[in-house]
Amino acid sequence: MPKPVFVLNGPNLNLLGVREPDIYGTVTLDQVKSACEARAVTLGLSVDFRQSNHEGALVDWVQEARTKACAIVINPAAYSHSSIALLDALKAAELPVIEVHLSNPAARENFRRHSYVSLAATGVIAGFGVQGYNLALDAAARLVAPAAAGT
Ligand code: DQA
Repeated sequence: MPKPVFVLNGPNLNLLGVREPDIYGTVTLDQVKSACEARAVTLGLSVDFRQSNHEGALVDWVQEARTKACAIVINPAAYSHSSIALLDALKAAELPVIEVHLSNPAARENFRRHSYVSLAATGVIAGFGVQGYNLALDAAARLVAPAAAGT
């Protein structure tokens, strides 16, 4: 089995399920974690699922991923739109990076339309709610082991 996929979640995503449910839905982050773990098993992968409200913690985890992960799935939340530190860390990681957003930031306020993280992302999945995490893991599987993923 390859190294785990780090699934990293940024600020306020710990409030998933109660936070603006009209935008982000009613599924909790614990439920997203379970769904990711289940999807990973079907893909022959494992996940290391984490959340922090702190930019530095996310940077530390991306640096850790450099040697300990096979790919990074990240919902940077509001740090997408502000964090050059996260962008630099992701570039240094030299891994497939899949950026995930539950909502479609391009269809929301202007300030959400730019993501620093996208500059380091292999691809971006946005607007599909929690299903986006499954899609991101599918993409990670294809990027990590194209033959095994059937593509
Ligand atoms: C988000 C979109 C961001 O703009 C926002 O700051 C979030 C969540 C999403 O998953 O849709 O916190 O990343």
